[in-house]
Amino acid sequence: MAVAKYSLSTWAFCRRKLSVSVGDGLLLITVSCKCKGTTLTEWIEKIENCDSVAAIEEIRIAVFGKKGVLAKAFAEMKTAANEEKAGIAKELNEVKAKLNSALNEKKIVLETEALKVAMQAEGIDVSLFSPLSERGATHPVMDTMDRVVEYFSNLNFSVETGPMVEDDFHNFEALNLPKYHPARDMQDTFYFKDETLLRTHTSPVQIRTMMNTKPPIRMIAPGSVFRRDFDITHTPMFHQVEGLLVDEKGKVSFANLKFILEGFLHHMFGDVEVRFRPSFFPFTEPSAEVDISCIFCEGKGCRVCSKTGWLEVLGCGIVDPNVFKAVGYKEVSGYAFGLGIERFAMLIHQIPDLRSLFEGDVRLLEQFR
Ligand code: PHE
Repeated sequence: MAVAKYSLSTWAFCRRKLSVSVGDGLLLITVSCKCKGTTLTEWIEKIENCDSVAAIEEIRIAVFGKKGVLAKAFAEMKTAANEEKAGIAKELNEVKAKLNSALNEKKIVLETEALKVAMQAEGIDVSLFSPLSERGATHPVMDTMDRVVEYFSNLNFSVETGPMVEDDFHNFEALNLPKYHPARDMQDTFYFKDETLLRTHTSPVQIRTMMNTKPPIRMIAPGSVFRRDFDITHTPMFHQVEGLLVDEKGKVSFANLKFILEGFLHHMFGDVEVRFRPSFFPFTEPSAEVDISCIFCEGKGCRVCSKTGWLEVLGCGIVDPNVFKAVGYKEVSGYAFGLGIERFAMLIHQIPDLRSLFEGDVRLLEQFR
C-alpha cells in the first residue's frame, strides 16, 4: 500500500494521514514501511513506563474507551474513500491488537509486582515465635463421665438417655416410690405444674428403656439430675450414671452385680478394697451402698473419709419386683446401680468443694489440661 500516514484530524484534507490527538499523546495509524509505528511506539512506550495498575487503566480508557482514540479512528474511517476503507480497517485492527496485548502484558507485570509488595507488607512470618494461645480442656466432670461410659460401653452396655423434665410416674411412681413414700423426702426437686419435675436421678431412664424394649437389657444412662441441695458436697444440678441389667428369671444375681462393680471400681480408683453395705432404695431389694477403702489414707482414717477409712461411692441392688410390675415385665431378674459423677471427680482429682466445679473459675479448670 502506498499510503504513508493517516491523520484523522486532517483526514478531510489529507487522506494520507490518520492521526488523533489524545491528551498529551498522539495516535498515528501508519501503514507505510517508512512511518510505521511512530506514535504507536509512543503509546507503547507510555504503557511500558506505567508504574501502577491505575495508570494502565487510564491509558486503556484513553485508547479503548467509548470516546477513546480507537473509537474515534474507527468513526472517522467511515469517511474514507470506499476503496481505502478495508486497508485502513485492517491497519486499525492490527494497532488495536498490539496496544491491547501491550496493555495486558504490562498489567500482569504491574499486578504481580503489586501482589509481591502487598505480600511482603501483609504476609505472616511463619517462622516467628508466638506465645502459646490458651488451650481448652475437657471439664473434669465430663472427663470422668466419659471414663465411666467408656468402661461400660466396652462391656456391651448400651447408652440410653431420657428427658430432664420428667413426670412423676417415671421419676417416682414406677420406681416403687408412691406419693406417700418417705423416701421421696431425700429427693426433693423443682416441680412444674401438671405433675412434671426436674428428674432427681437417672433411674427414670430404666423405666423408659424397659417400657420401650424387651428383655434382655444391658444399659447405662448418663445425664444431669436435679435436687434441692446446696452445700460443700452437693449442688442443685449434678450428674449420674445409671446402670441396669435385666435377663430371664434366675439368671441375674447379686454375685453378678458385685463382680461388675468391683471391676469397675478397680478401673476407676486402682487397687482399692470394695465393700458392699446393706442399704435401702425403694426400687431395689436387697439394696446396698458401695464403699471403697479411702484413697487418701489407704483406710487408716483421715479427714476426707471422716476417720472411717471408707468412702461411699455408689448405690445398687437387685431390681424390686414392683418395678418390673410397673413396666409389665414378667419372669425376669435384674440388677441396677447408680453413681454420682461429681463424687467420683472430687475423689479422683482431690477437689475439696464440689461447688467449685460449676463456678467456671479458670484457675480451677486450667489445672485439668
Ligand atoms: N437412683 C439412686 C439415687 O439417685 C441410685 C441407685 C440407682 C440406687 C439404681 C440403686 C439402684 O440415689
